[in-house]
Amino acid sequence: MKLIKLDAIDSTNDFLKALSSQDEIDNFTVVTAENQIKGKGQMGAKWFSETGKNLIMSVLVKNFLFHTEKVFDMSLIVSLSVIQTLKELDIPHLSIKWPNDIMSYNKKIGGILIENTLKSDGRIVSIVGIGLNVNQENFEHLPNASSLKVICNKEFDKESLPFLIIEKMKQKIGLWENNSALYRQEYFNLLFRKGVPMPFKNLHNKNFMGIIQGVSPIGKLQVLLEDDSIAEFEIKEIQMLY
Ligand code: BTN
Repeated sequence: MKLIKLDAIDSTNDFLKALSSQDEIDNFTVVTAENQIKGKGQMGAKWFSETGKNLIMSVLVKNFLFHTEKVFDMSLIVSLSVIQTLKELDIPHLSIKWPNDIMSYNKKIGGILIENTLKSDGRIVSIVGIGLNVNQENFEHLPNASSLKVICNKEFDKESLPFLIIEKMKQKIGLWENNSALYRQEYFNLLFRKGVPMPFKNLHNKNFMGIIQGVSPIGKLQVLLEDDSIAEFEIKEIQMLY
């Protein structure tokens, strides 16, 4: 695994994307940074991370053939690789809030942003961005966020995390090539707040109650509504309110 360590950068995802379009760079090349000036989150949000405290990494995954289900499978593989790494570090009460927020108890400790480019040969190049709150202690402005240190009351070695996560990703991608449905059950088992009534907001800012049933093979959230029907939502179509 090739590791490029940066001090400060706009976004490790953007840096790696630019690098991958210029050069023939290796699969699983990793870029880490101590600080991001324009860290990117899901849905155009910003990703905040205190300088020098947390894991900020992007990894290049290339050469898998495009298929809509595979795009979501990549997201499963990455979130499960992060979860497996955190389990090995004895982080308690881990779950995945759809589509791929990493949770401990009811707090977000990590986020994943995958940016895909479809090449002319039908293959996809993915820039997999992972932000994990490791040793940050102050979450004054982010009441729903936490870190490994806050949860476990001790410091963690953030330098080893890219190696641990990439090892799992490589292993899972290898197995997945022969059995693409491999990780769906594991993801479902870890799904945050499934099976319990909870409030949502739709595209038209209307609140409604629903119960998460699961996630479709292309990554849509399946929600049981009050009229007993099941609706499927894309990420931009629904917001979980809690
Ligand atoms: C989310 O909104 O939950 C996704 C957050 C993803 C943050 C990571 S940090 C490394 C990489 N570079 C970015 O600009 N974003 C991702």
